[in-house]
Amino acid sequence: MEVSFLLNGEAVQVSTHPTATLLDWLREARGLTGTKEGCNEGDCGACSVVVQDIDGVRAVNACILFLPQIDGKAIRTVEGIGSDTLHPVQEAMITHHGSQCGFCTPGFIASMVAGHANGRRDHDTVLAGNLCRCTGYAPIIRAAQAAEDGAQPAWLARDAAWVATAQKSIHAPQNSDELATLYAAKPDALLIAGATDIGLWVTKQLRDFDEVIFLNQCADLADVQLGQDEICLGAMVSMARVHQVMAQYHPSYAEMIRRYGSEQVRNAATIGGNIANGSPIGDNPPALIALGARLHLRKGDARREIAIEDFFIDYGQQDRASGEFVEAVTLPKSAPDLRCYKLSKRFDQDISAVCGAFNVVVKNGIIQDARLAFGGMAGTPKLARAAMAALIDQPWGEATIAAAAAALVDDFTPLSDMRASAAYRMAAAQGMMWRYYAERQGTPVSVLEVTP
Ligand SMILES: Cc1cc2nc3c(=O)[nH]c(=O)nc-3n(C[C@H](O)[C@H](O)[C@H](O)COP(=O)(O)OP(=O)(O)OC[C@H]3O[C@@H](n4cnc5c(N)ncnc54)[C@H](O)[C@@H]3O)c2cc1C
Ligand code: FES
Ligand code: FES
Repeated sequence: MEVSFLLNGEAVQVSTHPTATLLDWLREARGLTGTKEGCNEGDCGACSVVVQDIDGVRAVNACILFLPQIDGKAIRTVEGIGSDTLHPVQEAMITHHGSQCGFCTPGFIASMVAGHANGRRDHDTVLAGNLCRCTGYAPIIRAAQAAEDGAQPAWLARDAAWVATAQKSIHAPQNSDELATLYAAKPDALLIAGATDIGLWVTKQLRDFDEVIFLNQCADLADVQLGQDEICLGAMVSMARVHQVMAQYHPSYAEMIRRYGSEQVRNAATIGGNIANGSPIGDNPPALIALGARLHLRKGDARREIAIEDFFIDYGQQDRASGEFVEAVTLPKSAPDLRCYKLSKRFDQDISAVCGAFNVVVKNGIIQDARLAFGGMAGTPKLARAAMAALIDQPWGEATIAAAAAALVDDFTPLSDMRASAAYRMAAAQGMMWRYYAERQGTPVSVLEVTP
C-alpha cells in the first residue's frame, strides 16, 4: 500500500503494510527516536505527535495509528516542532523546568503544541493523556499557561498549505456508497475506523489481517447533521467532535465524554467504532440508549434502522450481518433531564467500571417516562427495564427512587473483575440512581471537579 504525507516539512511516500504503525515507522525506518514508546496501547502519550489535515491540528498517539490513516496529512514530531526556532511551549518548558526525565517530554510537547495551536486553556484536559510518572505536572502546566499567548510557529501555515492541495495515494472508499459496494463484495475485510481498538489487536495481540478497508476517507460518514429535532452523527465522527456537539445539546453527556480516554484517543476514536465493537463498557451506548437513539445500518443498497439497544444482543454478539456496517446514529436534540455518570478507578483516561445514563421525564410530580441504561453491569450495554417499570406512572419522590434502585437487582447480575466487584458495581449503580434524584432536586452532590 502506497501512502503519502508530510513529515516535518518533507513530503514522503512510503510503501507499507496496512497495519504498520506510525510510531514503529518513525523510530525504525526514519530514526526519529524523539517520539517514544511507553505502553504501545494508547495510554501514556509518550508517542504523541501533531497531525494536521483540512479539519485542523490535533495530537494523536502514533503507537496505535496506522500509516494509511495519515495519507494526505502533515505530521510533526518533536524533531520538527522546533525546526525553525523553539516553539513557545518548548521555551516555556525550559523556563519553568517542565522537562524532567526526557522520556515523556516529547509527548507532552506534542500535546501542548496542538493545544496551543487551538487556543486551548484547559491544560489539564489537554494533557490528561500524557502520563508523567515522576508526578512533575505542576511545572508542565505552568509552562503551558506561560506559552498561551506565544506566536504560532511558521511551519503551521506551511503544513496547512501543503495539506490543502495534497493528493491522497491510498485507494480507499471516498464515501458511504463506495464503502457499501466494496464491503458487500468483501464482507470478510476488517473495517478500520479510528483504530483505537484495532491498534491494540496489532500491538498487543500481534494479529495480522489479510484484508482491511480504511473508512477514514469516507467524507460523508464524518458528517454531523442538525435537523429540527434530531442530531445525526455519521459513524466516522470522532469522539472529539461528539464532545463538541454534546457540549451544545447534552452537557452531561459531554462532561462524561471529557473523561473518555484522553484527548489523543478522542481525536482518533469514532462513535461508529465505539458502537460497533459492542463492548459492555463502551461509554456512548448507555447515553445513546437513554436518549432513545436510532442506529442506521447499511449493507449494499439496503438500509435499516433499529433502536440502538436492540443492536447489542449478547456479549460479543451484535445485530450486524456480514457485509453490513454502521452508517450513522440519530438522537434527539433536546433531553433536558439526561444525566450521564462514569465511574472509573482513575478520574481521567480510564475505562468505566460502571457507566449509567438516566433520562426521566416528570410532569406534575408524576413520572411520565423513564429510560435508564448502564454499561459495566452486564455482557452488553443494557436498559434497566425493571427499574424503569418501578418509576413510570409513580410519584417523583424518595420512595419511588428506593423502589427503582432495589429493582436494579432484577435487571443486572454484574461480574467481578479487575475494575470492580459485582457488589461494588451494584452499589454504584444504585448510588447513581440516588445521585440522579439528588441532582434533579437541586441537592448539592459532592463530586470531584478538575479545575483548569
Ligand atoms: C487508551 C484508550 C482509552 C480508551 N478509553 C475509552 C473510554 O474511556 N471509553 C470508551 O468507551 N472507550 C474507550 N476506549 C476504546 C476505544 O477508544 C473506543 O471503543 C473507540 O470508540 C473505538 O472506535 P475506533 O474508531 O477507534 O474503532 P476501531 O478500532 O477502528 O474499530 C473497532 C471495531 O469496530 C468496527 N467498526 C468500526 N467502524 C465501524 C463501522 N462504521 N461499521 C461497522 N463496524 C465498524 C471495527 O471493524 C472493529 O471491529 C479506549 C481505547 C484506548 C486505546
Ligand atoms: S506508547 Fe503509550 S500511548 Fe503510545
Ligand atoms: S517528566 Fe517524564 S516521567 Fe515525569
